[in-house]
Amino acid sequence: MCRLAVAEGIAEVVCTPHWVYGLYDNTRDRILHCCGTLQRKLVDSAIPLKVHPGCEIRLEPDILPQITSGRLLTLNDTGRYALIELPGEFLHNYVENCFRNLMDQGITPVLSHPERNPGMIRCPERLAGWVGMGVLCQITAASLRGKFGPLIQRFTVTLIQHQLAHFMATDAHAPHVRSPRLSEAVLDLVAMVGPEAAERMVVSNPRAVLAGEKVDVPEPTPFSAHPSCETTSWWRFLTSRR
Ligand SMILES: [Fe+2]
Repeated sequence: MCRLAVAEGIAEVVCTPHWVYGLYDNTRDRILHCCGTLQRKLVDSAIPLKVHPGCEIRLEPDILPQITSGRLLTLNDTGRYALIELPGEFLHNYVENCFRNLMDQGITPVLSHPERNPGMIRCPERLAGWVGMGVLCQITAASLRGKFGPLIQRFTVTLIQHQLAHFMATDAHAPHVRSPRLSEAVLDLVAMVGPEAAERMVVSNPRAVLAGEKVDVPEPTPFSAHPSCETTSWWRFLTSRR
């Protein structure tokens, strides 16, 4: 995977193994240790790739104390950005509270692949609202290339057009399936948004995150009213009155 990444023109990678409650317990200590081991092997093998530690944290109502206590890892261990994977299709209102609590502690949530979340596809206004709160979004290169199907590809394009995509990453899992491919998607991105905006999504914004610095984001372009969101709002209204 590291050799493939280098061949794709990638110089630095953030390794983000999953943390999922009760399934993958990739703690900060474990990831820092493994990342150090990998970096030494890369040097020994003369593979010109720098690896940084990270974690893809599945959102749970109580993740904040796990991050602030140092049990779970922020991106490059700066304490400033946490890569957050949304839970499944139904997104309870606790999501907004979690984001607010994280940001109150100076931790910016970066959503991994929101373009693949059915709840976001149905209600992109909700995602736009989160971005308005300060949440950042990362899209997967393969989503833009259509590897997850035309619906997700179209929604990925929509997110880019509405200024709701701040990073593009490989989300690589293995050498052959979901491999670390980026270059073709970068060309697509350049054709869509131009070289400067594309550069921000794959170089300068990730670099700011690695340094724990602020990422400057453009104002999202609003969506027109979305009927399925209306349904959600009514449902929220009714349940909030119980
Ligand atoms: Fe994920």
